[in-house]
Amino acid sequence: MPETTPTGLTRLAFGGDYNPEQWPETVWHEDVRLMREAGVTMVSVGIFSWALLEPSPGKYDFGWLDRLLDLLHENGIRADLGTPTVVPPVWFYREHPEALPVAADGTRYEFGSRGAICHSNTDYRAVAANITTKLAERYAGHPALAMWHVHNEYGVPVSACYCDSCAAHFRRWLAATYGTVDAVNEAWGTAFWGQRYTDFDQINPPRVAPTVGNPGQALDYKRFADATMRENFVAERDILHHLAPGVPVTTNFMTALSQCDSVDYWAWGREVDIVTNDHYLITDGRRTHVNLAMAADLTRSVAGGAPWLLLEHSTSGINWQPHNPAKAPGQMARNSLAHVARGSEGAMFFQWRQSRRGAEKFHSAMVPHAGTESRVWREVVELGASLDSLSTIRGTRTQADVAVLWDWHSWWAQNLAWRPSEDHDARERADAFYEALYDRHLTVDFAHPEADLSACPLVVVPALYSMTEAAGNNVREYVENGGTLVVSYFSGIVDEHDAVHEGPYPGALRDVLGLTVEEFSPLLPGESVRITGPDGSELTGDVWTEFVVPREAETVWTYADGPAAGHPAVTRHRLGEGSAWYVSTRLDAQGLDALLGWAADDAGVAPRVDLPRDVEVVRRVGESGTYLFAINHSSSDAKVPLEGPGTELLTGERAAGRLVVGAGAVRVVRLDG
Ligand code: GAL
Repeated sequence: MPETTPTGLTRLAFGGDYNPEQWPETVWHEDVRLMREAGVTMVSVGIFSWALLEPSPGKYDFGWLDRLLDLLHENGIRADLGTPTVVPPVWFYREHPEALPVAADGTRYEFGSRGAICHSNTDYRAVAANITTKLAERYAGHPALAMWHVHNEYGVPVSACYCDSCAAHFRRWLAATYGTVDAVNEAWGTAFWGQRYTDFDQINPPRVAPTVGNPGQALDYKRFADATMRENFVAERDILHHLAPGVPVTTNFMTALSQCDSVDYWAWGREVDIVTNDHYLITDGRRTHVNLAMAADLTRSVAGGAPWLLLEHSTSGINWQPHNPAKAPGQMARNSLAHVARGSEGAMFFQWRQSRRGAEKFHSAMVPHAGTESRVWREVVELGASLDSLSTIRGTRTQADVAVLWDWHSWWAQNLAWRPSEDHDARERADAFYEALYDRHLTVDFAHPEADLSACPLVVVPALYSMTEAAGNNVREYVENGGTLVVSYFSGIVDEHDAVHEGPYPGALRDVLGLTVEEFSPLLPGESVRITGPDGSELTGDVWTEFVVPREAETVWTYADGPAAGHPAVTRHRLGEGSAWYVSTRLDAQGLDALLGWAADDAGVAPRVDLPRDVEVVRRVGESGTYLFAINHSSSDAKVPLEGPGTELLTGERAAGRLVVGAGAVRVVRLDG
């Protein structure tokens, strides 16, 4: 059995992508000296090195990698060794131009960037298997080897290829999934617009067409593309498992919903030995630490609650947004430790030494262009020491308070064309509900809609347009057995093929919510509605309204105006031992807070409202103890109540009562006992 932590790593992982092939070997010695100074424990190497390792077909040059791994080993630094299959060498493309992927409009991408791969291409598969085999044969027993890093960020920058070999592969996938072409016709509803197929050979990828294409076909193509990338990952993983038994295999995910939308990480989480993630702060005017927390919670959930590893983030600015601010003093440590609080077994970066050339030379690094006489370097060294003081945390698990249901397939379906309103955005609702829970200082686990929910007192469904019947039954049983459910509008509408569940909306959730929805009535941009509560108080909704007809549910809040005036806006259904709340409009932050407050009362989940807004408190618990992380993202000092005395690990000081956490600071207390 492969290990589930990096082999031989006895402390938290600290380091980054190390691309020494960009530098003369004299610099390598300076690198490892600085790595030791900073307390680096592991680096990722070889991710983009195929052209150097195999300069011409079948001719290999492993000498430099041998010397590099030996040097790392001599200096006590573990290696996360890449299979370089994300960028095949140019000789490969010149021999096999059809391995370059094709966009939906027929454009074939060129070599000269990265990630230009048609994952159905059998020549690509053969050379990828070959270089993986060669690396595994050579380095399986190398003492520096801690884990394998397959490929890089499957799904970006190319999420699907639309070429002829993908068309043939898609047909095989459909035949294996559906058995008969009639089953495909049925699932996709091809009776509409005369799209009936009589043979698998007639089916193509959803290429550019005169107007909107078949939604079932588009959805299945997302599934197919995801499954095809996974096939390639599994092929490499199996070679590595076979030739290097015991060494864990990972591939770096990008769970932040704004950073990769084409990969079903629930499925991928089951295939890797260690879940690893890359996270970059997106400058979109919102609180970046909330998005960070959400991505970290989602990553941990994909790992089934087990510890995971942050394989890449940035020491300061990135360089692929229109504007790339530098991180503020202390922000890098706050970001890193926020990932650790939520389950990461360390903090790694892109990249070790800032490049002088190439597309990412303005992306920050651990050793910046400014050199070691710089704030970034001083903070890197400090972070290394902080992580070292947290070594005993390894193996502990983050404790969550509530669950949020999330499903990539539903998101894909929701994002297809021609919906009641283009302003309804499933990700926006997921972000907004997450933020409302974050602001109540509740830690979130994400769950697949068919997962066992019995351990969660409160389950939130922000936007789950597509739900299987099994998922509907799952949440109904959860409520009957005493759970509290909160559902936002346009959930449970279609099945896994984007076919509307039979009967009135929301088919998969009618019973559990005790209501039906007669019609959707989305609002125009700029419009909003007032909704009034039992005590006469008022909330605001926008984007969406519905004609909700309560059946067994009670009306809690009512539309005071707008197209659905007089209809319920918020309902509650007591079912069995539990209750199910429904909201049929887009509530703002204040409304969401009120709704979640009532639901949390039902669920007996106490909100930690005595903490200031941007102070994050998260616990990791395990054999070595209970660790309380207090992360102050605000610009004022904060006091965090401790449930008992303990030792603050970053300073070594004793802590009790109310822990003072300075503005922008992080404190980690191991509670006594
Ligand atoms: C990641 C990628 C790295 C580097 C980094 C910074 O997505 O894996 O190779 O490009 O972004 O932009």
